[in-house]
Amino acid sequence: MYPHLFSRISVGGKELKNRLTMAPLYLGYAGEGGAVSELSIDHYRLMAKSGVGMVVVENAAVDYPVGSGSNRTIRVDTDDNLVGLTKLAAAIKGQGALASLQINHAGRFAGMADPALAPSAVQAFGRMPRALTREEIRKIASKFAEAAVRVKRAGFDMVELHGGTGYLLSSFVSPRTNKREDEYGGSLESRQRFPMEVVREVKAAVGNFPVGYRFLADEWLPDGLRLVESLQYAHVLAASGVAYLSVMGGTYESFFLPEVLQASRKEGYMVDLAAAVKKAVNVPVIAAGRISTGAFAENVIAERKADLIGLARVLWADPEWPLKVKEGKEDEIVHCTPDCDDTCTKLVTKGKVAFCVRWPHHKLQEWKAKVS
Ligand SMILES: Cc1cc2nc3c(=O)[nH]c(=O)nc-3n(C[C@H](O)[C@H](O)[C@H](O)COP(=O)(O)O)c2cc1C
Repeated sequence: MYPHLFSRISVGGKELKNRLTMAPLYLGYAGEGGAVSELSIDHYRLMAKSGVGMVVVENAAVDYPVGSGSNRTIRVDTDDNLVGLTKLAAAIKGQGALASLQINHAGRFAGMADPALAPSAVQAFGRMPRALTREEIRKIASKFAEAAVRVKRAGFDMVELHGGTGYLLSSFVSPRTNKREDEYGGSLESRQRFPMEVVREVKAAVGNFPVGYRFLADEWLPDGLRLVESLQYAHVLAASGVAYLSVMGGTYESFFLPEVLQASRKEGYMVDLAAAVKKAVNVPVIAAGRISTGAFAENVIAERKADLIGLARVLWADPEWPLKVKEGKEDEIVHCTPDCDDTCTKLVTKGKVAFCVRWPHHKLQEWKAKVS
């Protein structure tokens, strides 16, 4: 029914069996302290079993505690988690999907850091971060490279750098949060210097191994990063040899604004951003954001707005989404709809383990048994 959606594609030299991917989704499933848990492994096995071509595992911290979003953020800053990460990659690949792991430094939004570290001292939710020194900046680039090597050693097929959500990499690119007066601040060329150093250092460390990038196209804030600049950055990133750009909009400081909440209720609310980025680059582009129906997803690919679809909550709400779409059973899909008032987001921001209010009763019971 959907010939474009279920056609193969090569990304970073690796073959995906279709255009569907799982976009990274932090759900608080890791153990306290950031170990890969049985719950994480079961969850990602199920996500891979869904039939998507690639699963991108949620953000994992390259530095701890200063780079970690929360106490349940997976750690990739030491070899201690290597056994767990190896099991995670194997669980995903065992179901016939490619496995990627997103690596991150949470910067201004590092829940575990006091003070948080940032390009400049610009307050975030009442907390004032400390501006990084140049030496610290270079050290963090090495931490990304070391973490990426671990991802490769753990058996993943790719690594993804988290350049979205207002975390450290994107906070350097943003004119709103980067007020530096050294070579890392000022013009776009200077603001993108640090993330580009990270890309180069990571690529040099991992060699022949694909490096994808979660890309912040628009902060959705009046004084934030806008498309006019981000498209130039996208072009530079693509030219540097990243394997793909996974496009998103917004940061923690815009996600909850009434107009952004309203806009993000719409099907495909970030597809226009992906389409704009796609025009600027020659690497595969992933579009995400409430892509809820097969017909919509097919059109995104057919109309060349993106090369791949990223499903996060959509796939988590119904891990049979790809199968039901493929087999014409779309009326059976359990849909992620906005009228739950973003329960999963609210749970994880309170430090809780997420569940989906749309799940059928038996699934909720299964989840409760695993979590308790
Ligand atoms: C609870 C929650 C956790 C998320 N965690 C991540 C993450 O770890 N890394 C990331 O790049 N995006 C993350 N995202 C964004 C998703 O990847 C995705 O872009 C967004 O949810 C839209 O897709 P969807 O409508 O299919 O969920 C998260 C979103 C939510 C709601």
